[in-house]
Amino acid sequence: MRGISIHPSILCADHGHLAGEITQMTAAGADYFHVDVIDGGFAPNFACGTEIFNVIKRYSHIPIDAHLMVNNPAAHIKLFRDLGAEIITIHPETDMQAARTLAAIRDMGAIPGIALNPGTSIETVSELLPLCGHVLAMTVNPGFGGQRFLEYTCGKIERLGAMAREYGFSLCVDGGVTVGNIKKLAVLGVTSFVVGSALFGQDDYDRAIIELRKEACE
Ligand code: DX5
Ligand code: ZN
Repeated sequence: MRGISIHPSILCADHGHLAGEITQMTAAGADYFHVDVIDGGFAPNFACGTEIFNVIKRYSHIPIDAHLMVNNPAAHIKLFRDLGAEIITIHPETDMQAARTLAAIRDMGAIPGIALNPGTSIETVSELLPLCGHVLAMTVNPGFGGQRFLEYTCGKIERLGAMAREYGFSLCVDGGVTVGNIKKLAVLGVTSFVVGSALFGQDDYDRAIIELRKEACE
């Protein structure tokens, strides 16, 4: 069975009970915590600052996948690496020297990633793909949890699936992933899944993660 990675999106947790959410999701067998850092500039919304990283570190041993939806991410990569991010994903649209930033993330000992907005084509980032350990295909426009999956991204995801095998990066999808569409995405070559509202909205996190893995692997 192929390895599947489940990344619960902490943006969608109940922040009134954050410690409990983190410990329960850790016990349920999540692979990474996905942290959406949003600066109100690159993407609408303000979310997940340094304190969230510290709370995750305090209550869990699970690695952190930092999704930087911020302008000029190069200015902040060291901060998030020092806060314990193991994967650091930037949006190349907002970085004047994305190749340099990806190399810097790797030099810091983290996995460099790029996120592709639904409206960003592979052609605009093809030179960056060999520099990435992680590619995050956005399946909603970035900014909020609980949005509907955008079907038109599937053609791009299928092409990225083939490139993931060629270059060796992990292909991840982010936005509107559910137990109902995870299998289709796995067939296209996706191996990592950010799941927000469809996971934190469940009563039983253990069962929800088991069901997601089962659907993706069948
Ligand atoms: C969207 C964020 C996602 C979001 C996922 O801008 O990058 O990580 O929290 O939430 P769901 O799974 O509810 O779409
Ligand atoms: Zn995200």
